[in-house]
Order: sequence, then structure tokens, then C-alpha cells
Amino acid sequence: MACQRIKDKAKGISFDLFNMRDGYPDLNDYDIVGFATYACGVKVAQYVFDYMTGLEAVQDKLVFVFTTYGKDNGSSCMVLARLVLRKGFKMIGEHALHTPENYPPVIRLEHGYEHYPTKKQVKAFDDFIDDLSKKAMLGIHQKTIM
Ligand SMILES: Cc1cc2nc3c(=O)[nH]c(=O)nc-3n(C[C@H](O)[C@H](O)[C@H](O)COP(=O)(O)O)c2cc1C
Repeated sequence: MACQRIKDKAKGISFDLFNMRDGYPDLNDYDIVGFATYACGVKVAQYVFDYMTGLEAVQDKLVFVFTTYGKDNGSSCMVLARLVLRKGFKMIGEHALHTPENYPPVIRLEHGYEHYPTKKQVKAFDDFIDDLSKKAMLGIHQKTIM
């Protein structure tokens, strides 16, 4: 839903959404690439780490990273950012969004955050999307995949 919101609200950008479980798309077709995942153990899930490690190197392709989290994002965004920077991407933005918790044992024993994100968090998320739109419109970087 969060990725769909980025796609729907971004202005002046033609967006494709791609599931990393379906392999690797041809990034040559895109000017900007976004990588998104959920916080897992205050980092990223092992399969996400493996996917990112297996990416082909690029040269200064523009990138943004985005994570969702249920309570504490920890270093999830930073881990994702480091993984892409190692591959030669050039960072144009990062954001983390507090969503409801999705891990059943935690929901039962600790917290659910069913009503998150708050209005303020949604506004911060939308500001991030506006910022992406502005950066994309500043250049010719309009074909995007996430
Ligand atoms: C195995 C596992 C580990 C998780 N670790 C964290 C974590 O370290 N910090 C956190 O805030 N949320 C953690 N979560 C919760 C998810 O990151 C959070 O609910 C996320 O926003 C769910 O997105 P989704 O509903 O699109 O899957 C974890 C969830 C799972 C399943």
C-alpha cells in the first residue's frame, strides 16, 4: 500500500512497481530506482539483504530507499542505503514510515499500532513523495521503478 501511494502521489514520474521476489528487472530502462522493504530485526530481512547483494553494479544511477516499521525502524533504511551505495547508486532520498505491526507474537504480547501511521506521519510521508517528484522534475529523470 505504501509503495502504491508513492506511485499514485508522485507527480511527473512514470512509475513501475516490481516485486523483488520476481527476480531482477533491467534497470537500464529506468532513470531512478527505489528500493523498499519492511524493518526486520531493526535491519532488513536476510532475503532482502541477499537480493541487494546480488544486484548488478551501476554508475551513478539515482536511487531512493524506503522502509516501513512496526515500532522501531532501527538501521533498516541505513542498511538498505549502504547496500545500494556499494553498488554505485547515487542517493536522492530516504524515508521510513510507521505502519501497524505485522508480527503476530509481538502483536499478542506487546503492541499493534493498529492506528498508525498518524496524520503527522502520513504528512511527512507525502512530503517525502513531493520531494521525490521535485527532484525527478528538475532533471529528465522521469522513468522510475520501485
Ligand atoms: C520477522 C519480523 C521482524 C520484524 N522486525 C521489526 C523491527 O525490528 N522493527 C520494527 O519496527 N518492526 C519490525 N517488524 C514489523 C514490520 O517491519 C512492520 O510491521 C512493517 O511495517 C510491516 O509491513 P507490511 O505490513 O507491509 O508487511 C518485523 C516484522 C517481522 C515479520
